[in-house]
Amino acid sequence: MANDSSQKKQIIIRAKDIYKSYGSLEVLKGLNLDIYEGETVVILGRSGVGKSVLLRQIMGIDAPDSGYVEISGKRITEMSQHKRFEAVKSMGMLFQGSALFDSMNVGENTAFYIRQHEPHLAEKKVQERVAEALAMVDLSGTEDKMPSDLSGGMRKRAALARLIVYRPHILLYDEPTTGLDPITSMQINDLINSTKKELNATSIVVTHDIRSAMVVGDRLAFNDDGKISHIGPKKEFLQSQDPHLQAFFKNAILTKELLENQE
Ligand SMILES: Nc1ncnc2c1ncn2[C@@H]1O[C@H](COP(=O)(O)OP(=O)(O)OP(=O)(O)O)[C@@H](O)[C@H]1O
Ligand SMILES: [Mg+2]
Repeated sequence: MANDSSQKKQIIIRAKDIYKSYGSLEVLKGLNLDIYEGETVVILGRSGVGKSVLLRQIMGIDAPDSGYVEISGKRITEMSQHKRFEAVKSMGMLFQGSALFDSMNVGENTAFYIRQHEPHLAEKKVQERVAEALAMVDLSGTEDKMPSDLSGGMRKRAALARLIVYRPHILLYDEPTTGLDPITSMQINDLINSTKKELNATSIVVTHDIRSAMVVGDRLAFNDDGKISHIGPKKEFLQSQDPHLQAFFKNAILTKELLENQE
């Protein structure tokens, strides 16, 4: 609707008519998505529909076959690598699996991107920022630990610290709670929400975790076979009569219930 309140806000991320194939496999098929300043949009969808591929396009790691991505009004798709690097400097992505660098301890891992982003920052300041970020994710004092010494939840939180340490304004999370127990998942959800407030961030969260979607999402979007077929505030989204979306929810909730009953 033209007078939707979200229309007054600036569009921070725009994916326009994105097509992307790998060989004969068509993944994104004319995908459109607008994300407004300060909101968190959760992207749901079956495995393999191109959710991670979309995040890579938005980060500028991968280019579309046609269509374009704009970040804060700047079209990054046709930029030179150097210009694109500058344009996406304010963005951070928590990759699916969120691998830490195994050969570096937590402190070095956390300092990695801040050293890249602010190469002239004094070492004392770097260490202060690292300690601050680790405190935000409740991992104070773990600087000397190696990734192999951490639990799955701690590794996720350390990966989040490594991301928030350079204070990005746009955050992309690819399945941040997958593989975590419900309590640790909740901690991650809380962190996503507190990070949003602290950094005044605009975020996209890709997840299969419906509970997480409800806790962190302002709007929910459904990737149905390479296109966003549905996007809207939570209640409106849940009430959708779209049969694909209803089937997805039924399956997702059923799978979750079954999994929980197994525990
Ligand atoms: N670099 C690549 N080369 C070839 N095929 C790729 C590449 N990246 C992704 N694909 C294919 O594109 C499709 C979509 O992948 P993507 O990782 O985006 O799925 P997804 O929606 O994130 O799934 P999941 O929920 O399982 O993470 C898959 O069939 C995948 O094999
Ligand atoms: Mg994925």
